[in-house]
Formats: sequence, C-alpha cells, structure tokens
Amino acid sequence: MQFFLDTADLDEIRALTASGLVDGVTTNPSLIAKSGRDIFETIAAICDLTDGPVSAEVTAQDAPGMIKEGHRLADIARNVCIKVPLTWEGLIATKALSDEGHQVNVTLCFSTNQALLAAKAGATFVSPFIGRLDDTGVNGMELIGEIRAVYDNYEDLDTQILAASIRGVNHVRESALLGADVATIPAKVLKALVHHPLTDKGLTAFMTDWESTGQSIL
Ligand code: E4P
Repeated sequence: MQFFLDTADLDEIRALTASGLVDGVTTNPSLIAKSGRDIFETIAAICDLTDGPVSAEVTAQDAPGMIKEGHRLADIARNVCIKVPLTWEGLIATKALSDEGHQVNVTLCFSTNQALLAAKAGATFVSPFIGRLDDTGVNGMELIGEIRAVYDNYEDLDTQILAASIRGVNHVRESALLGADVATIPAKVLKALVHHPLTDKGLTAFMTDWESTGQSIL
C-alpha cells in the first residue's frame, strides 16, 4: 500500500518525506489556500521533495478549461498528477489528459458508479472521500470495499483506489484491510500510526533492564 501525504505544508512534507515512508503528496484548493502560498511555487517545491505523484487540482469547471489548466500544472514538474473533480466535464478532461499520457487523480468521489466512470475515463487514481461520507452518517469505508469489488471484477479497470479524507488511524487500517491501493493521510495521522501503549511500556522495561546490566553495544 502506498502512503501519500495530504497537505500543502512544505515543512510537514520535508519532515515526513525524510522518513522514506511517503510515496507521494495530494493537495487541493483548500490546502493551497491554507498554505497561504502561490500554487505554482508550492507544487514545484513539493515536487522537489518527492519523486512520487504530487496531485495538483484544476479549478476550471468546463472540460476545455480543465485541460488547459491541467497542461499548465503538468508543466511544473514531471511528477505532477492532475487532479480533476468527478463531474461530467471532469470525466471528459480525464479521458483527454490520460490519453495524452498524464497521470490523473479524479477527486470528490462519493459513489461506486462515480468510481466506475472515473476508471472508464482512464483515471490513474480515484479518490473516495471517506471522512466526508462518515460526516453525513454513511459509512465511508463501505464505499472503498464496493469500489475494490467492482474494479476486481474487470481486468481492464486498472485505476488505483486512493482512500482520501482520512480522519484517523482506523481509516488507514480499514482501507488497507479492504485493499485500497493508496491512502492519502494528514501528517498528524501518519505519525499517529506508529503509536501503541504496549510498545512504549515494553521499551521502557527493556531500557530499565538494559541499564541494570551496565553494558554498552558501541
Ligand atoms: C485529498 O486528495 C482530498 O482532497 C482530501 O483528503 C480531503 O480531505 P478532507 O475531507 O479532510 O478535506
């Protein structure tokens, strides 16, 4: 399973890519707004920090506009993945951009039929938004399972499922159990994945016992 970082914060990306555990980055217009920085500078800087796909989202609402913006974004660096919304116009743009050989992440996916359309349009990734579905009282994780089952029914559908809108460690665990190809994870959640109280307790006991030996490995 690949882990993308879901942020446009360069300090967070710098700190976490150094771990070697980050396979790419996703941004969206809200994350760019939160960063307070220029989109072109920000995406270029992120692409310098990772070789993996960096999703940069178009803002036009019509297919020709999305395609034009997609070209501008793709010109930033070779690892830009053009992010397109799951609308009819977005699907037309996805087909055109993927036919040209660009990576495309189709975002704002909330149903299995939408994911089927994204795959047929040639999306590299489809992003089902788990947390936002949970917010409405629908179990977002069920969508991941359904999309996995549908994609696995057809050999020609090779779009990767990118679990998005992840709010906590259980979303990551359940996405992995259900076979999502990628999870895009906020920095705080990624760091929280390592924690277990028994690890901390066990390490404290090992260190106390080790000190009592008076030995040193180096
Ligand atoms: C990533 O591609 C999405 O834009 C992001 O995960 C949305 O997350 P949110 O629902 O927490 O804003």
